[in-house]
Amino acid sequence: MPVPNNAFAHRYGPWAVIAGASHGLGAAFARSLAERGLNCVLVARRGNALAQLKSELEQRYAIDVLVVTQDLAHPNACEQLMAAVGERQVGLFIYNAGGDPYITRFLDTSVEDWGALLRLNCSTVMQCSHAFGAAMLARGQGGLLLVGSQAALGGIRKLAMYAATKGFALNLGESLWAEWKDRGVDVLNLLIGTVDTPTMRDAMVKLNIPDALTMTLPQAEDLALLALEELGNGPTLIHPEDILAQGADTPGAARRAHVLGKSAQAAVFIGND
Ligand SMILES: NC(=O)c1ccc[n+]([C@@H]2O[C@H](COP(=O)([O-])OP(=O)(O)OC[C@H]3O[C@@H](n4cnc5c(N)ncnc54)[C@H](OP(=O)(O)O)[C@@H]3O)[C@@H](O)[C@H]2O)c1
Repeated sequence: MPVPNNAFAHRYGPWAVIAGASHGLGAAFARSLAERGLNCVLVARRGNALAQLKSELEQRYAIDVLVVTQDLAHPNACEQLMAAVGERQVGLFIYNAGGDPYITRFLDTSVEDWGALLRLNCSTVMQCSHAFGAAMLARGQGGLLLVGSQAALGGIRKLAMYAATKGFALNLGESLWAEWKDRGVDVLNLLIGTVDTPTMRDAMVKLNIPDALTMTLPQAEDLALLALEELGNGPTLIHPEDILAQGADTPGAARRAHVLGKSAQAAVFIGND
């Protein structure tokens, strides 16, 4: 059941942070949140694209937008982002950055470059989830949305570090869902198969995929809407299978049962506090 706009803003506002907002899915999230009346912090490396989106959103909606030009793979990225956000009350944190810019076999990319992907998809995600999550738990409300990939569900040739880092975020998000679900903070992992973003199209062209520019792909706007509607239905939304299956035994429902079952089993040894 979708949360009505004013109830959504009340529950997840007044500010949303979208990490990775300069194009594609992140920009679609920002547009959708602005329409629901949330102020937006837009984060990415391309300041010009963010400034353009800021003026579009502020012209169309009665909201405030803060632009933070930041490389999220930098070791101090989270610290710098928190400093830029300052005292603003963040009720929704979306981490959307995190595509694999290399798509090579493991040894064909340098360990330094893999290190940057590790910081982008693991360290910064962990640090920001900690910082924003703590403030949300203190207020007893909020949401954390980690944009992930179906690559998180197992290893894939030429996507070793992508699959590994997305697996990290999936396990982190599912665990936080189990810890926070009764404390007012929703957590959702959105596991995407493919979505039409500039990064995806560029990669397909670079990899000489036939029909790279014309192939029909799920649209970013549709995924953003769906994920926002499903925020309270964590821990994991697997697109498109969940949507096609539409039943109690969808992959998302199976993940929920898995997390609850594992948490109950582990409680025997590690406690239930
Ligand atoms: N596209 C797909 O088919 C697909 C499939 C499965 C999962 N996903 C997931 O969906 C998300 C979005 O996909 P995408 O294809 O649009 O990915 P993307 O290339 O990571 O771009 C998403 C956004 O993140 C920003 N970004 C990327 N690296 C950054 C960095 N180091 N520091 C700050 N911002 C950074 C980009 O802007 P700047 O370049 O301006 O920084 C852009 O605004 C990713 O998490 C991806 O793993 C996508």
